[in-house]
Order: sequence, then C-alpha cells, then structure tokens
Amino acid sequence: MDEIKDAGAAPFGALGAAVDHLTAAFEDAGLEDARESARILVCRAVGVGKLELLTSPSRRLSDSDIHQITEFMKRRLAREPVTRIEGRRDFWTVTLEIRPGVLDPRADTERLVEVSLSHIRLKQDQHQKILDVGIGSGAILCALLTDVPNATGIGIDISTTACEAAGKNLSALKLADRSRVLHADFSTFGETDFDLVVANPPYIRSEEIAALDPEVADYDPAIALDGGGDGLDAYRVIAGRLPIWLKPGGVFVLEIGYDQAVPVIALLQEAGLQGVTLTRDYNNLDRVVSGTTAPI
Ligand SMILES: C[S@@+](CC[C@H](N)C(=O)[O-])C[C@H]1O[C@@H](n2cnc3c(N)ncnc32)[C@H](O)[C@@H]1O
Repeated sequence: MDEIKDAGAAPFGALGAAVDHLTAAFEDAGLEDARESARILVCRAVGVGKLELLTSPSRRLSDSDIHQITEFMKRRLAREPVTRIEGRRDFWTVTLEIRPGVLDPRADTERLVEVSLSHIRLKQDQHQKILDVGIGSGAILCALLTDVPNATGIGIDISTTACEAAGKNLSALKLADRSRVLHADFSTFGETDFDLVVANPPYIRSEEIAALDPEVADYDPAIALDGGGDGLDAYRVIAGRLPIWLKPGGVFVLEIGYDQAVPVIALLQEAGLQGVTLTRDYNNLDRVVSGTTAPI
C-alpha cells in the first residue's frame, strides 16, 4: 500500500491514465502509432495483458510500476523502437528475444521465409540442410526450422553479439539440436552441400545510413545495414560463394532492397546461377531474389 500512496507525484496513478499520458507524450513528439505503443509499453512495464488494460483501466499502479513506465516512455521518446524496449519481436510463427547490437528483424523478411518454404516444403520427406548467411537474431533460421521439422541448419555471422543472440533464440525454441551457430565471415566460410542458402545481407548504401529514421540509424548495428558505396558489396561476395555452399540444384533465397533487383540479378547470373526469379513483397516492392545452382 505504501508504494501506491507514494506514487502521488506522478502525472498518472492508474493503468488507463498511464496509457493516456504516454499517448499524449508520443503524439507531441510526432511518433507514429502513439496509442498502440503506449498500450504495449504500459502492459510490458506492469506485466499485464491487453485484456486487463481494457477491463481494469482504474487499476492502481505501484511506485515501481510508475518508475518502469516512465523509463519506457523516456526510451521511446529517445526514438528507441518499441520492440527493443520490450526486448522481443514476433516474427513469422515465433517470438524472438531482441537485444542491443543485433538487427531487429523486419516483417518484410517474412517474404523471404515464404519463398524459402515454397521450395523446401516440396521436399518435406527428405532431410534439408540450410545455411543462414548473416543470421542476426536467428529470425530466418528459427522460422524455417520451426516449420520444417526434418531440416537442420547452420547460421553464420561476423558479429559475436548476433551469434549469441541467435543461439539463445534457437535454444529457447528448442531448435538447438537441429542447428549450429558459427562466428564466421561469409567471404571465407567454406562449408558445402547445403540444400538451401538464405541471406538478408546488409544492403543500405553507406551514405544513406545517417539519414534513416533514428529508430534504425541509432539502434540497428551498422554492420547489419551497411552495404558499401552502392549497397551491393555483400551480394558481390555472396553471388560468388553460392556455387561453393550449395549442392548441385540447391536453392538460394536472398532479400534485396526495393531498387536492387536489376544489379543483384545480374551479379547472380554472372556467377552462373540459374532460374533467377524476383518476388515482390506485400507493398508491391521488389524484395526477394531466388534461384538455383546448376543440377549435375
Ligand atoms: C540485415 S542483417 C540480417 C539479420 C537476420 N538474418 C535478419 O534477417 O533479421 C545482416 C547480418 O549480416 C551480418 N554480417 C555482416 N557482414 C557479414 C560478414 N562479412 N559475414 C557474416 N555476417 C555478416 C550482420 O552482423 C547482420 O547480423
């Protein structure tokens, strides 16, 4: 009770009032989705579900609730994304832990998962060996291994923080026995015989990074974003490595920036890859390029 009494100095003392307060602060700061963000952050801070928020808006808050809500509000006003403040993100059918220093996976990348599944589901009865190049949080490999029970996978990343995050997410989803995470650079990684290679490599032009929204430029790591002067550095390397990594007739699926289809397809074709196909995302933007190595 003391805790509640001492909370009098705060501009809000109950669940619903806290949501109103955060909503107003976020709107004043010009942030998108102000009320939804406020609801998520208040629920997370207090440890209640959205149903309780709707049914018990007058529930009193303790001092520690108010402190946590205020901290979350300050972080959002500093443009930290809601998913990072929550520390988790829903992706495909899984929930991932998101930590500083690792890319916050994007909904657009679910298109890469869909295209990948359309290939490997055709061979559900056979063991499928997957390579996730630049695994980050583990989003893609976690999604694929969850949907394809007889697949195994290796994820590589140059960032040790990403490797740790991916390993933790794979373990939390009980996928550790079907996966390995290796600290490796894709320009030298040399394992072979994969049925499927997936990659969402860094593809932003270096000079464009500073102008991105602060939620991206200040919180996603540069190593996950920076694709070099023309944004294509990683694709140049990966195009040359795909024929080494893949079995004959193996499939690759790469995410691309909306304006990169023409040069990426050219790089892949120059490297001898076949059946190169472009898939758009649900905003009708070029998003995924897939294809195969030559069969024997
Ligand atoms: C755009 S993020 C994608 C992360 C994750 N796959 C996803 O879709 O959310 C690119 C990832 O590639 C990794 N990376 C960048 N350069 C690399 C390299 N030379 N070798 C291996 N990984 C690299 C970054 O650390 C980052 O985790």
